Amino acid sequence: MSAPGVLFLCVANSARSQLAEGLARQRFGAALQIQSAGSIPTKVNPYAIETMLEVGVDLATHTSKLVSEIDPKGIELVITLCAEEVCPAFYAPVRRIHWPIPDPATSDPKVTREELVERFRTARGRIGARLHLIEPALALPPRTLIAPATAEDRPEIGALMITAGLPLDGLEKTDLVVARIDGHLVGAAGLEHWGGDWLLRSVAVATEHRSSGIAELLVRDRLCIAQLGGATSVHLLTTAARGYFERFGFTAIERATLPKALHQSTQLAISACSTAIAMVRPILT
Ligand SMILES: CC(C)(COP(=O)(O)OP(=O)(O)OC[C@H]1O[C@@H](n2cnc3c(N)ncnc32)[C@H](O)[C@@H]1OP(=O)(O)O)[C@@H](O)C(=O)NCCC(=O)NCCS
Repeated sequence: MSAPGVLFLCVANSARSQLAEGLARQRFGAALQIQSAGSIPTKVNPYAIETMLEVGVDLATHTSKLVSEIDPKGIELVITLCAEEVCPAFYAPVRRIHWPIPDPATSDPKVTREELVERFRTARGRIGARLHLIEPALALPPRTLIAPATAEDRPEIGALMITAGLPLDGLEKTDLVVARIDGHLVGAAGLEHWGGDWLLRSVAVATEHRSSGIAELLVRDRLCIAQLGGATSVHLLTTAARGYFERFGFTAIERATLPKALHQSTQLAISACSTAIAMVRPILT
C-alpha cells in the first residue's frame, strides 16, 4: 500500500507551501507523500530556502508547481495556507484543513532583509507547530473540512450548540474552528483568551458524526492555537465530558483556583455552568 498523499496549497507555491512541504518531508519522511502547489506558481522564494537551511532542510531543488499539474491519485489530505488571498481549488473528495498563515513574502521596499528573514521564520514556526495535526487529520472521514469559523458559520454553530446542550452566551467573543462534511456543519470548538489565560469551550460534534475523530482534531487545533498565542495552560468547564478531556491531558481542579481573569468569561457566570467541573491542561513549549 502506498503512503497517503498530503498536498499543501498557497497562491504562488513560493513561500508558505514550500516551507510546509520541506518541514513535512523532514518530519514524516517516506511515511507520507508530501507535495505542494499553487494557482500562480512563480519560483521558490530565496528567503524560504535560507530559513529552511537553518533547520536543516534544503529547498534548492524544489520548483513551484501549478495545482492542475498535481495527480489527484493518492492525495488524502489537502492543507490550504492562504490568509487574505483565495487558495487554489483542488477538486477531489479529500479531507481538507485550512491553516491561514500570513504570507511572509512582500514586495514592500520598506521591509528590510532582517525583517523578511524574521517573517519567514515566523511562518516556518506557525506551520511547524501544526504538523502534528496531520496524522489525526488523515483519520477523519473523507470530505471533512476543518477551518476557522467565519461570520456565515455562526447561525449553524448556534444550532449545533443548542442540540449539544451547550450555552450560546458569549459565543460571539469566541474564536471558533468548525468541521464540515459535504458542506454541512458537523462540529465546532472555541477558544477565549482573557489576558494570558485561555478557555477552551463549545466543543461539540453532531450526534451522527461522533466517534469519528472530528472532536479530537478540533480540540487539538484549539490547543495548538493557544500555544501559538503564548498560552502556558488552557482551562475548561464541563458537565458531561470530563473523561473525554482527560484523554488530552486535562485534569480536574477546584473551581475556586481558576485564574481570576477567566471570570470575565460569561461561561463562568451563567447558571448553566454553575455545577460544571473545571479542568486545566498545561501547554508544553
Ligand atoms: C464531547 C464530544 C465533543 C466528543 O465528540 P466525539 O466525536 O465522540 O469525540 P472523538 O471522536 O474525538 O472521540 C471519541 C471517543 O471519545 C469518547 N467520548 C466521547 N464523549 C465522551 C464523554 N462525554 N466522556 C468520556 N468519553 C467520551 C467516545 O466514547 C470515544 O471513545 P473511543 O475512542 O474509546 O471509542 C461529543 O460527545 C459532544 O459533542 N458532546 C456534547 C457537548 C459536550 O459535552 N462538549 C464538551 C464540553 S465543551
